[in-house]
Amino acid sequence: MACHPRSIARARPPREIALTVPVDAADTVDAVTVRAPAKVNLLLAVGDRRPDGYHELTTVYQAVSLTDEVTATAAPGEVTATVSGEGAGDVPPGEDNLAVRAARLLAAEARIDAAVRLVIRKGIPVAGGMAGGSADAAAALVACSELWGLGLDREVLARLGAQLGSDVPFALHGGTALGTGRGGQLTDVLARGDYHWVFALADGGLPTPGVYAELDRLRSTPEDASVGYDAAQPVLAALRAGDPAALGQVLRNDLEPPALRLRPGLRRTLDAGRELGALGARVSGSGPTCAFLARDETDAIRLAAALAGTGVCRTVRRAHAPTTGARVVG
Ligand code: C5P
Repeated sequence: MACHPRSIARARPPREIALTVPVDAADTVDAVTVRAPAKVNLLLAVGDRRPDGYHELTTVYQAVSLTDEVTATAAPGEVTATVSGEGAGDVPPGEDNLAVRAARLLAAEARIDAAVRLVIRKGIPVAGGMAGGSADAAAALVACSELWGLGLDREVLARLGAQLGSDVPFALHGGTALGTGRGGQLTDVLARGDYHWVFALADGGLPTPGVYAELDRLRSTPEDASVGYDAAQPVLAALRAGDPAALGQVLRNDLEPPALRLRPGLRRTLDAGRELGALGARVSGSGPTCAFLARDETDAIRLAAALAGTGVCRTVRRAHAPTTGARVVG
């Protein structure tokens, strides 16, 4: 997105981003729809627990073509949200909804009334380890910024997004990127080619904090090896080469062992995908979705159909990657 003339200067620290320039009514529209992607972690190397309770991460994100859409419509009063789509009943519509929190945060920073109706359409599995909530927050930030004529650039939105969730900056960014810190410090990586994924969706979700806590219980000694930039090298090399077979061999997720402890049945799902010829098979993020890398689109269609027939998951989804970050579609 182009830098708007009223955008905040990049050098300013985040807490100073409150807008001092009045919102220009000529810049505003009645409704904005934004689509934001799910992510898969090609690498999720989890380091030590930090004093703030989060873990130091080295991760490689890839945006995939499962998306949520958020429509923001000017409405008097407060921020309200409705949620539709698969699993919508498990998404909190009020205070705890990340899109609602995103709209409120943006309005507070812009010092304007948070008067907006959000309509969220879910295409990303809820609590599935694919950052669906973060996608909704990213979409709401972009949609409200447009709706309110704030013209904020992506860097400002990413700083706000990082306050809402570790994966929000990536949902704004899209593509393929290396994430460090809590996950939100992003660097572009060179990724050649297209990748074809099959996702096995499970019944119910897994709470991300619970999976990290289980990892802490499993680790008897502090981990410091193989978590820094070196840990990313095999994945980055496979991406540079545009080689899905090589990538499938080096997919890594440190949250997989704790997710399997909490949901032992996922082992059968992973095994089934491997037996059906997936190039790589990993729990996605904190789970319980399982991600399978296919050779190409034809292979993904075959793998998805075969996996659906095994009965080891609730349903399957296919997706291609990498795709764009949150963007206005209407
Ligand atoms: O940032 P987000 O809200 O997505 O994180 C959800 C939870 O996952 C955190 O409350 C924390 O328990 C865990 N987490 C972590 N270290 C990270 C990211 C998330 O421990 N880098």
